[in-house]
Amino acid sequence: MEKKNIDWGSIGFGYIPTDYRYVANFKDGKWDEGTLTTDPNVTLNECACVFQYAQTVFEGMKAYTTEDGHIVTFRPDLNAERFANSARRLEMPVFPEDRFVDAVVQTIKANEAYVPPYGSGATLYVRPYMFGSNPVIGVKPADEYQFRILTTPVGPYFKGGAKPITIRVTDFDRAAPHGTGHIKAGLNYAMSLHAIMDAHRQGYDENMYLDSATRTKVEETGGANFIFVTKDNTVVTPKSNSILPSITRRSLIYVAEHYLGLKVEEREVYLDEVKDFAECGLCGTAAVISPVGKIVDHGKEICFPSGMEEMGPTTKKLYETLTGIQMGRIEAPEGWIKVIE
Ligand SMILES: Cc1ncc(COP(=O)(O)O)c(C=O)c1O
Repeated sequence: MEKKNIDWGSIGFGYIPTDYRYVANFKDGKWDEGTLTTDPNVTLNECACVFQYAQTVFEGMKAYTTEDGHIVTFRPDLNAERFANSARRLEMPVFPEDRFVDAVVQTIKANEAYVPPYGSGATLYVRPYMFGSNPVIGVKPADEYQFRILTTPVGPYFKGGAKPITIRVTDFDRAAPHGTGHIKAGLNYAMSLHAIMDAHRQGYDENMYLDSATRTKVEETGGANFIFVTKDNTVVTPKSNSILPSITRRSLIYVAEHYLGLKVEEREVYLDEVKDFAECGLCGTAAVISPVGKIVDHGKEICFPSGMEEMGPTTKKLYETLTGIQMGRIEAPEGWIKVIE
């Protein structure tokens, strides 16, 4: 199939509409059969539950071309499961997990011309989402919902190398209300907008959020989980019920243990011990791992020995192994790569 004439290396992370999107509607207690459409617009009543009470959840994943020319996506079953958990927490009907994966496949296939070629660094970002669509004025869940999937091509995350970033420890909470941080719901991201803009105005790339109860434990950033490496090369990642269970983090932990033979600890991580780690990275679908060079805790600097020029050595191995698996250069564990065609 002929690809669209897009300069894949120069696009950023913005919305570029593609030809097709997926839509399914929930009404009278059941989902309809769903369909692909070319219409990018959604028309809703002014009193739709999503507008009044932010009843909306989403997912984020990528489709890309492997070294041998297949279009694939990475572990979409885990996005389906997390989406179902997010929906349950907001009293929304679950879009069946097998149908979720099938709809993702259909949408990617229909937009094949927008899946960037291997080696470009660009990908087709896939955004499934769902919202309460009927009018609601008393505080209660909607009765009708729309599930949609949009896709948009996005450029390489790192242009000209993965430069370590600087983050700050923030007094804001990422998620609202507290205890909902494990779900991917618009309300949590709305609550993080002020914190991230404030961090940028102060010259930081990201926020490190602490647990809201004691403010002593590391949670995550606005869009990624933490991964640390100790001086004796153990991979440590925070365990918390109020961080998003990152699919990238879960995959990196597996890679650390089973591909690189490293010791892994998923446990509570105290802010006090961060200064003793050798490496720090942020993991998520967008970048796989983004190295962190410096953390500023209310004026006090923590500088990692890996520095501000490049990724630390273990972070780099993790990054290269996982991206190798994703791109088909290294054999993947069973079920990780969903081939679209
Ligand atoms: C708050 C938050 N944490 C972590 C992640 C990383 O999750 P994943 O690896 O599944 O992309 C994301 C991704 O969007 C996120 O929004």
